[in-house]
Amino acid sequence: MEHKKLDNFPKDFLWGSASAAYQVEGAWNEDGKGESVWDEFVRIPGKTFKGTNGDVAVDHYHRYKEDVKLMAEQGLKSYRFSIAWARIFPKGRGEVNQAGLQFYIDLVDELIANNIEPVVTLYHWDLPQALEEEYNGWESRKVIDDFVNYATMLFETFRDKVKFWVSLNEQNIFTAHGWLMSIHPPGKKEPKLFYEVNHIANLANAAVINKFHELKMPGKIGPSFAYTPQYSLDSNPEDVLAAENAEEMNANFWMDVYLYGEYPIVALKYLKEQGIAPTFEAGDAELLKSAKPDFLGINYYQSATNAENPLEGGVGAGEMNTTGKKGTSGESGTPGLFKRVQNPYVERTNWDWEIDPEGLRIALRRITSRYRIPVLITENGLGEYDKLENGKIHDQYRIDYLSAHVSAIRQAITDGCTVLGYCTWSYTDLLSWLNGYQKRYGFVYVDQDENQDGSQTRYKKDSYFWYKGVIEANGANN
Ligand code: BG6
Repeated sequence: MEHKKLDNFPKDFLWGSASAAYQVEGAWNEDGKGESVWDEFVRIPGKTFKGTNGDVAVDHYHRYKEDVKLMAEQGLKSYRFSIAWARIFPKGRGEVNQAGLQFYIDLVDELIANNIEPVVTLYHWDLPQALEEEYNGWESRKVIDDFVNYATMLFETFRDKVKFWVSLNEQNIFTAHGWLMSIHPPGKKEPKLFYEVNHIANLANAAVINKFHELKMPGKIGPSFAYTPQYSLDSNPEDVLAAENAEEMNANFWMDVYLYGEYPIVALKYLKEQGIAPTFEAGDAELLKSAKPDFLGINYYQSATNAENPLEGGVGAGEMNTTGKKGTSGESGTPGLFKRVQNPYVERTNWDWEIDPEGLRIALRRITSRYRIPVLITENGLGEYDKLENGKIHDQYRIDYLSAHVSAIRQAITDGCTVLGYCTWSYTDLLSWLNGYQKRYGFVYVDQDENQDGSQTRYKKDSYFWYKGVIEANGANN
């Protein structure tokens, strides 16, 4: 669809940026914080790039004022960050750790004092280790009450201050990486358990959204889904069907539950045939149906292209590129459903992520057509090597990437999509879960590396100034 004239971004559009507690805070055992599953997992040899961990990260816990000052100077309208559950409840529930809570109260106050809208993520993967030990965390339905209890505490604390809440960050990623691919905690490869865990996470998400609405919280809540729109390699009907399979299993399987309260028919039938469908207990269907998110958060990085993958001899799970050596990711797929192939029309990053701004427009369009819900883009960005030279970082490649995505959003708005805001990933450079510090995303370079002995000095990249201009012009100059 081509437009003669583009709509403007809405006046109150949230030009933002994002982070997650484990990736930026550091201070992993300070002020009474309990351990999280990530604090444990990173200590298992071979799990992260060069054994990096978030013990120190980029020291945001101690430097948050400096970071917020940089945001204010840039004119940032919103900052999305997550709260570390184990700072609030070191054992997952019980006594509140006031010192941990105070950190977030101070951060929120600092943001508000600088006219920056806080967007709070309740859960960005750092489950309290105590709950893992007590009942295997997300494998038990007990986590639902504990999650609601933790969230309620935060709702009450920030009722008048925080208007945007993200319930779960990338449920599809933390469950798949944790229970299918064994690359996130708890490091399992058990398909049946994966679907059970994911179902429990769906219930927890629904319960928290309902709680938010029951409490008549002034604001909006929704999950953040890692949406990778699926394409067909070509018009071969077998490939088109493979792309349908991928969209059904990798996208609708989550978004339909969030927004319709039901798993998609085809996906559920397939899982039943395989004997790995989630178990429904009394009340589950009603709970899923009753919860209505106010917006859908999406984290968009890339699209995926699919071809037919035969049941006999087809491609299975592949290796991810966590080294930054282009071309090292293997083929991956599910025999009988789809296999992911390279898109011949788009470039790839050094970590083999496909660069496809149009895919963001397609994602927004599909969501709008299927669900008719406003979208908050909660993550989008380019992870690349950056070079610090004489205090400067000339990251034109990042500007190109972000600028093309901003244009795609404007096109989607003109198409009729409601987009509430755009949070780039990430504000400062931070620890990439599996890729250490060499894969950088921020507007602000941080002198930190895999030896974790950097000075933590912050430097503004060229992209920092570019985004400042975009915000000032409300996207009109992009
Ligand atoms: C998202 C996560 O999956 O992508 C972030 O929400 C993450 O926490 C980001 O850092 C980029 O992924 P990666 O693997 O390049 O760090």
